[in-house]
Amino acid sequence: MATKEDNLKSIISHAKEYGFVFQSSEIYDGLSAVYDYGQMGAELKKNIKEYWWKAMVNMHENIVGLDSAIFMHPTTWKASGHVDAFSDPLIDNKDSNKRYRADVLIEEHAEKIRLKIEKDVAKGIKRFGDDFDETQFRATNPNVLRNQTKIDDINSRYKTAMDADDLAAIKILIEDLGIACPISGSKNWTDVKQFNLMFSTEIGAVAEAANTIYLRPETAQGIFVNYLNVQKSGRMKIPFGIAQIGKAFRNEIVARQFIFRMREFEQMEMQFFVRPGEEMKWYEYWKEQRVKWHQSLGIDKKYYRFHDHIKLAHYANAACDIEFDFPMGFKELEGIHSRTDFDLKQHEEHSGKKLQYFDPEINESYVPYVVETSVGLDRTFLAIMSAAYTEEKLENDTERTVLKLPAFLAPVKVAIMPLTRKDGLPEKAREILNTLKFDYNCNYDEKDSPGKRYRRQDAIGTPYCVMVDHQTLEDDTVTIRDRDTMEQERVAISEIEAILKDKLDIRKVLS
Ligand code: GAP
Repeated sequence: MATKEDNLKSIISHAKEYGFVFQSSEIYDGLSAVYDYGQMGAELKKNIKEYWWKAMVNMHENIVGLDSAIFMHPTTWKASGHVDAFSDPLIDNKDSNKRYRADVLIEEHAEKIRLKIEKDVAKGIKRFGDDFDETQFRATNPNVLRNQTKIDDINSRYKTAMDADDLAAIKILIEDLGIACPISGSKNWTDVKQFNLMFSTEIGAVAEAANTIYLRPETAQGIFVNYLNVQKSGRMKIPFGIAQIGKAFRNEIVARQFIFRMREFEQMEMQFFVRPGEEMKWYEYWKEQRVKWHQSLGIDKKYYRFHDHIKLAHYANAACDIEFDFPMGFKELEGIHSRTDFDLKQHEEHSGKKLQYFDPEINESYVPYVVETSVGLDRTFLAIMSAAYTEEKLENDTERTVLKLPAFLAPVKVAIMPLTRKDGLPEKAREILNTLKFDYNCNYDEKDSPGKRYRRQDAIGTPYCVMVDHQTLEDDTVTIRDRDTMEQERVAISEIEAILKDKLDIRKVLS
């Protein structure tokens, strides 16, 4: 049986073979944790961005967009706390010379224990079926309780150590848990060190310290420093949001999981500015809205879960992740953070400019609080790809690999195929293509047998294929094949546009 890791390998090679994702600078043996999106990947990524933008900006009267620069004044990052605190605790294994994030080693250890609990629960369900009382089992079973206590102890020791910035205690925790390096198998660890994740470079011709600038590690700061510009020029009233999609850069220590953790990646972030004291209401609101957005992609609910942060970032008073069950297990897909007034206050202090909002409803000026939703575009891409990737055995003992992508996100919406390359069929097929291409990204394919062509389209997730055959020349009808059911229906050419419009209508998903 294929393991989850095999599944990730299959997705990576499929992504390369069909033009979704390539290793960056591959001809020079690649650049670690940097990837390029190919002809199919670029389309899928664009469609995900568009869907996010529509859902966040177009569907909300009080949310507007922004496109701020990657480079920002260096004081931005001093003010935001990134220069001093945007670091991960790293640890090296002395035998393999491999570098790890100490927090990730600990989290993965705790996750293994949690999986033991889930295994016990699954056994109970299997044994007792409908009679099984899961809540009572979790509350009373000695194995479950013992393992839960272990997890709670780990979390509590980890939190205490991180809150106190006690890196020695983190190392002792790793040793006490008996965590071994997956490569060397040894427990021969170095001390834990903090490592700042920001990339820096120089601006202008003179390389002096004063000219050091950073590649932004999050898009959010571009929103914070522009919040009053947008509020005033757009006459925005609190509560309101500013949304932005853009590149972010982090010199990640562990960068081994394909596009899950990259050094150059894209974020889709929204900062929601609210009245102080109302942030928890909006935090809960956005948690619900964002998980709904993910679920609207048609992926089973069981793939998603919330995970509250144990250690809050320096700017947050509440934070959680929406996690997705990736081929590597449950991992962060999106962060939802109540960032208080930390960032705006810091920018006020460092810039000497007032960033207050006058609230006409209560006749008061204040620095707004902020609730942030921040989702990785590349991680959303990977989540969608991994849920869509399907190897199917067919009735006639053949197999097909099909990407069951949500139809409205598919890179190619419809493929037009003449049955043969003669008798005027290609010309007829091109006529259809020339009307559809104004609305949809279409593919024209006349090479190989129809079966092979259908497989090719299945592999890139094309939801519909239109076949032009000899009957088309007689009665102006074609067949439309559905990717998932593989069923073909004969319809009039004049109906194609209406059929596609109905099936690919983004409005249905948005509403
Ligand atoms: N502004 C808040 C912020 O940046 P974060 O949790 O550090 O919060 C938000 O990042 C999201 O960005 C994550 O949930 C993840 O989807 C994505 N992300 C973060 N680091 C990433 C990386 N190295 N590669 C790909 N995506 C990443």
